[in-house]
Amino acid sequence: MKILIVGSGGREHALAWKIAQSPRADKIYCAPGNAGIEEFAECVDIKAMDFEALAAFAKEHEIDLTVIGMDDPLVGGIVDVFEEQGLRVFGPRRNAAILEGSKAFSKDLMKKYQIPTASYENFTDAATALDYLKTVKFPIVLKADGLALGKGVLICNTFEEAQAGVREIMTDKKFGAAGNCMVIEEFMTGREVSVLAYVDGKTIKTMTSAQDHKRAGDGDTGLNTGGMGTFSPSPFYTKEIDAYCQKHIYQPTVDAMAAEGRIFKGIIFFGLMLTADGPKVLEYNARFGDPETQVVLPRMKTDIVDVFEACIDGTLDKIDLVFEENAAVCVVLASEGYPVSYEKGYLIEGLETFHGKEGYYVFHAGTAKGKGGIVTNGGRVLGVTATGADLKSARKNAYEAVEWVHFGNKYYRHDIGKAIDEA
Ligand code: AMP
Ligand code: GLY
Repeated sequence: MKILIVGSGGREHALAWKIAQSPRADKIYCAPGNAGIEEFAECVDIKAMDFEALAAFAKEHEIDLTVIGMDDPLVGGIVDVFEEQGLRVFGPRRNAAILEGSKAFSKDLMKKYQIPTASYENFTDAATALDYLKTVKFPIVLKADGLALGKGVLICNTFEEAQAGVREIMTDKKFGAAGNCMVIEEFMTGREVSVLAYVDGKTIKTMTSAQDHKRAGDGDTGLNTGGMGTFSPSPFYTKEIDAYCQKHIYQPTVDAMAAEGRIFKGIIFFGLMLTADGPKVLEYNARFGDPETQVVLPRMKTDIVDVFEACIDGTLDKIDLVFEENAAVCVVLASEGYPVSYEKGYLIEGLETFHGKEGYYVFHAGTAKGKGGIVTNGGRVLGVTATGADLKSARKNAYEAVEWVHFGNKYYRHDIGKAIDEA
């Protein structure tokens, strides 16, 4: 088979690596890809939002399957464009990707179908939102409705903070059109877990659990980022919690989307909080997580191409989805200053150390080919993943491998997976 991946981050590198394991994958392309993905795929210089050019490429090169990694093209309707042209593609259509594309939609869906989540109200104008804020308890959570690179969520401790937040989102449009509508929701406390699942429209099969570290600094300090590291599985996600979520969250979400005439095929990423009142949905994403994928796929045994095809064909119930009994930890190596401002273009040394080392992976996020070799080209540069028999050994291995690579302004958190000591 010829397979095209759309995207360019660490998630897509992990996807390319996993797809390359499949005996069914003869040739892999990635648009636009990055310097690391080239190891497994031919990178094609077409932007992820140029749907017509991507579809034309898929036709010309007789691509058998296209896999969409990123949220923007999914929410923008890339799957509809491919399907209209008779191309086989893995991911939700535009009318289903709204599960991630609009937080107001997803909150209303959960309310209508009694899927546990924080209580909330939606607002389309700033004055009404401010009036409402005079009546609530703090802290409170403000969320821009649309896609905002994970930055459209503000946790406000006082009325003044919330007032400033409403101004940022709705009046100043800091997140653009994503702030035309806003969700204000109850602040919850508890451990966070990410559960990714394959969905074929009616059947859902969850992958092993993971936990992300969103803040930039050690001890969960500093600004929110795209994710500074992950571990899998989460020791806090017990069998009992899983059984509860399967019954009250996962299958009900798939059924709710179908009942709304928005058949969901692809990946649903459940961002959960394990609260004192039970697990609740923080957010949905309509794609693989980044950097969750970098710890989940190295533990997945099943051929991923078979799973993608089963999702498209509605035969996921026939798939035996199996994960290793081991654990994995991913530490993101970033550029100092991320997520605000940082320098790029530093030479990356030591990448070859990973060659031939089983259980160690270096997934490229922001890299490019430069003079003298591969150079830094983004805030998040690399994701170093290691597996181990258990979480502690995976963590030890990952932090060992972090020392194998060197580049100017290298920055990473030292406490990825620290929470497992409390399990
Ligand atoms: P989201 O993009 O909706 O997952 O939000 C980003 C992060 O903000 C989450 O991972 C949580 O850490 C935090 N967050 C979002 N909603 C809430 C909430 N209702 N209560 C507490 N924290 C939240
Ligand atoms: N790691 C969180 C996300 O992919 O949205």
